[in-house]
Amino acid sequence: MLNKNAALFEKIDRGEELTLADLTTLLHMQEPEELHRLFSAAYEVKKRHVGTTVYYRGIIEAGNICVKDCYYCGIRRSNSGVERFLMDPEEIVREALWCYENHYGSLVIQSGERQDGAFTDMITGVIRRIRAATEGKLGITLSLGEQSRRVYDEWFQAGAHRYLLRIETSNPALYTELHPGDHSFSTRLAALRFLQEAGYQVGTGVMMGLPGQTMEDLARDILFLRDFDIDMVGMGPYIPHKDTPLGAECTGLREDEKKELLLLAKKMIALVRIVLNDVNIAATTALQALKHDGREEGLLAGANIIMPNVTKTDYRPHYQLYENKPCIDENSTMCRGCLEGRIGRIGETIGYDEWGDSPHFFRRSGRVSTHT
Ligand code: 5AD
Ligand code: FES
Repeated sequence: MLNKNAALFEKIDRGEELTLADLTTLLHMQEPEELHRLFSAAYEVKKRHVGTTVYYRGIIEAGNICVKDCYYCGIRRSNSGVERFLMDPEEIVREALWCYENHYGSLVIQSGERQDGAFTDMITGVIRRIRAATEGKLGITLSLGEQSRRVYDEWFQAGAHRYLLRIETSNPALYTELHPGDHSFSTRLAALRFLQEAGYQVGTGVMMGLPGQTMEDLARDILFLRDFDIDMVGMGPYIPHKDTPLGAECTGLREDEKKELLLLAKKMIALVRIVLNDVNIAATTALQALKHDGREEGLLAGANIIMPNVTKTDYRPHYQLYENKPCIDENSTMCRGCLEGRIGRIGETIGYDEWGDSPHFFRRSGRVSTHT
């Protein structure tokens, strides 16, 4: 086995392009020695292209009202067991200011998807207020689902500059299985294009370990991210939620399943780093749902972004997209201290007060970074 894969590692070391078959083989890899070699190679690429500074994006979970009904998601509109909330603008701005005062270079405003004017206008106002209150110094990322080109433009003009919208899977047939008939893969793709055209740094990603998903699907996902010229990647393991159609049968992940999922997630991070090299990659919170130090392992496999939760503790229990979401009882200050220790222990530093933009964005757009 080692010999067979030696040629693949040589390709990686020489920076040669990996094919779909190569990536599929690498995703199947199980030998500890080979895995170690893969993660080390990815870490070298990370050091060379983005360094070992971890950038923070404080995530505000601003609301859980959602018009979508994704079969895997705990806050889908048909889940009547969820207590719905929407923060008011003052609360969102207050949490943004917490990020600013605590030297987090940027934040992410995320919520369930809503396209109505009351919601989109409220967000426009919030972006303007955050910009004014922080003199434009706090980076503003949005993760608010599919919107019209007009709304994306409006939020960009107001001062948001990055947007996260996961493709979930690049396999249209699998996408159809995971979503009801009124959700469309082509609409999702079009939204990603609108975001690029509007001038955003665009982030996307997939879930890993979905029912029916193959290693070849995941290998294709990596090529999709590369070919779509994506700037930022956020991928996470699929974690069943019992109050959803996809998770209804599941009684919780077993320890061996968690271990396998974490390994798969790390392999994906490593391969995305190797193939896309200069993008930002998040070590997502869902990794920590699999293992207490799952996010640190993600950083060591090639990720360079952490999204600390800065949502008020009262709201956290109502934003469970998946089960066993970590940090539900903690507050933002506790997460800050906890993370500082975790990142220090793996020998990396935190880029306080920095935007930490994706170098890839500047390469593809020809723009010049004005924020370090
Ligand atoms: N497990 C893991 N990730 C999930 N998401 C939604 N539901 C789940 C789940 N059960 C992810 C989706 C979405 C992001 C905000 O959360 O990928 O894009
Ligand atoms: Fe929230 Fe550790 S990051 S408690």
